[in-house]
Amino acid sequence: MTRKLSIKQSQSIESFLVEDRVFEPCITRSKVGSINSMVEYKALCHEALQNPDEFWSRLARENIVWTKHFTHVLDESNAPFYRWFYDGELNVSANCLDKHIGTVTEKKIAIIFEADDGNVTEITYYDLFIRVCKFANALKAEGIKKNDCVIIYMPIGIESIVAMQACVRIGAIHSVVFAGFSSKALEERIIDTDAVAIITANVQLRGGRELPLKLIVDEAINNGQCKTITLVLVYERTRKHWKRVIGRDKSFLEVLEGVNSACVPISVNAEHPLFILYTSGSTGKPKGVQHASAGYLLWVILTMNWVFDLCLNDIFWCTADIGWITGHSYVTYGPLAVGATQLIFEGIPTFPHAGRFWEMIERHKVSIFYTAPTAIRSLIKEAETKEEVHPKNWNLSTLRILGTVGEPINPEAWIWYYRYIGRESCPIVDTFWQTETGGHIITPLPGITPLVPGSCTLPLPGIDALIVDEFGNELQNGIGGMLVIRRPWPAMIRTIWKDSETFKKCYFPEKLGNNFYLLGDSAVRSSDRGYFRITGRIDDVLNVSGHRLGTMEIESVLVSKTDLVVEAAVVSRPDDIRGETICAFVVLKGSLPTLEEGKVIADELRDWVSKGISPIAKPSICFCENLPKTRSGKIMRRLLRSLAKRESLMQDITTLENPMIFNALVHFF
Ligand code: PRX
Repeated sequence: MTRKLSIKQSQSIESFLVEDRVFEPCITRSKVGSINSMVEYKALCHEALQNPDEFWSRLARENIVWTKHFTHVLDESNAPFYRWFYDGELNVSANCLDKHIGTVTEKKIAIIFEADDGNVTEITYYDLFIRVCKFANALKAEGIKKNDCVIIYMPIGIESIVAMQACVRIGAIHSVVFAGFSSKALEERIIDTDAVAIITANVQLRGGRELPLKLIVDEAINNGQCKTITLVLVYERTRKHWKRVIGRDKSFLEVLEGVNSACVPISVNAEHPLFILYTSGSTGKPKGVQHASAGYLLWVILTMNWVFDLCLNDIFWCTADIGWITGHSYVTYGPLAVGATQLIFEGIPTFPHAGRFWEMIERHKVSIFYTAPTAIRSLIKEAETKEEVHPKNWNLSTLRILGTVGEPINPEAWIWYYRYIGRESCPIVDTFWQTETGGHIITPLPGITPLVPGSCTLPLPGIDALIVDEFGNELQNGIGGMLVIRRPWPAMIRTIWKDSETFKKCYFPEKLGNNFYLLGDSAVRSSDRGYFRITGRIDDVLNVSGHRLGTMEIESVLVSKTDLVVEAAVVSRPDDIRGETICAFVVLKGSLPTLEEGKVIADELRDWVSKGISPIAKPSICFCENLPKTRSGKIMRRLLRSLAKRESLMQDITTLENPMIFNALVHFF
């Protein structure tokens, strides 16, 4: 395969740090299931707009193995609760595994697992299929049935993928909780889903450390509220002893002993909930995003082919954890559904050294690499200070496509990624999407879309994205506004678990009219090419190292420390490496602390947030006597944001109830 990404104009790469440079891509794409030219891309976009029913119906017939064929494509009668292919039946696990059995793919490596300590395990499609069948039978034998919700609180590994696939095989609905979340966050999710079982591991291994997962599960259940849990299944990652609750806890080995390896996948309706995944929004409570089986499956298959141009011999590596949507779509489902060989990694990019990612790309001959800008930025910093971990020390010539996800990538990081990892030969797909969209929605197609660093370029076929003002009027290119999607598409969120009202209010606000799906991001299109550039969130959602966190969520945890805190307001502060960091303005009971007291209390509060949500939510803390408020008592977050960003302090404070507070805070910064 020939591949070359040429740069327009003959300038040195350093002079490309202006955002509107265009990188003309030219790799030869695979012919199978792919889009092979801009002409084909435009034709597909046109077809999707003109004949959406035919477009989606054709793709769903071509890409999904149905147990009962659908006769209807889209049901809009109860919008925005759309239903897709709703009289069809299928099983998603069968579409990821069974369909490869009896083909050449069954002998192919499905997953290469590299452990934290560097140990490598490989599993073929056939062996993975047997493992999933056995695990599904074990779940059935333990009484788990269709529609039951199962929480998966596990580190990434072959076992966690098996657990997810096994749930789907028997029609159970999984809800994966990121293993970095605290017992409190886990407890909330157990309660909200009414889960009957938890699948976990005794420990998680990361960066040479052992983290006790089972202990956290016990803590969450013992908090007293989780009455629905009757089974805790424990994968013994190490020999480390774990405390057993008799009658409730079992090890993987125990439930798998003597289990039959034949398990017919259950046929479910196209709209059967595939999983629930919690994500932060602008309310204090995380939202359980519910995805449907067929629509989601279709989209992960299409995007694997269109955006990653998956070919027979590719080694695909998405570095995301299964606790996030990226790990669902581009680790557990997408790669298996298209029969790819993928690498998964248990550890962290800086252990035992900050060249680990590059070393792994060389060792496993990775050809498609997909990671978050925050990881790239932190590795740039390492490489710049330590010669021995610079990527030039490794042979990265197997790479042909690079991807980023989760947050905007700044042009400097883009250029470094392009130059040192892609050797100026690999297109970078800056994929924009979110938990609710199921898969990529705005992204370049490698080898087809001319690239502009920092821009996610153009919507995929079938995604009718536009930018509107607050009343839903479409805005011209060059004018920033709210990003919306005009028409439904199969992989979109179906509802918020047990909260259809919030679903409607949050994603289809009445004031926009026309049933626009509101993403919560602001964006602008370039005047020349109509390329999209994501400019930030329009709600109170933060993006810290690519992790989505709600300011309200963090505030609720802070004010729940009632012995110390009276009030708190959380805003973000831009950060060179992590994109954003969290800044909390806190009003304490009593008077302002001294410097020394302040340090101790701030540590206590950070620890409290870590236990209430996760260490990723730890804020830096600024104590104040009061928060700046409007006369109607609303916190003036605009001012706090400016303060945290150290922006111009010439603010309009005429509507402030307590302007003296602002002056005090300005002084503080
Ligand atoms: O704000 C956008 C940002 O991440 C949000 C979605 O977060 P989450 O649901 O956790 O899913 C992350 C993985 C898809 C979006 O609303 N975001 C995601 N990708 C990009 C991005 N912002 C800019 N550019 C991106 N490529």
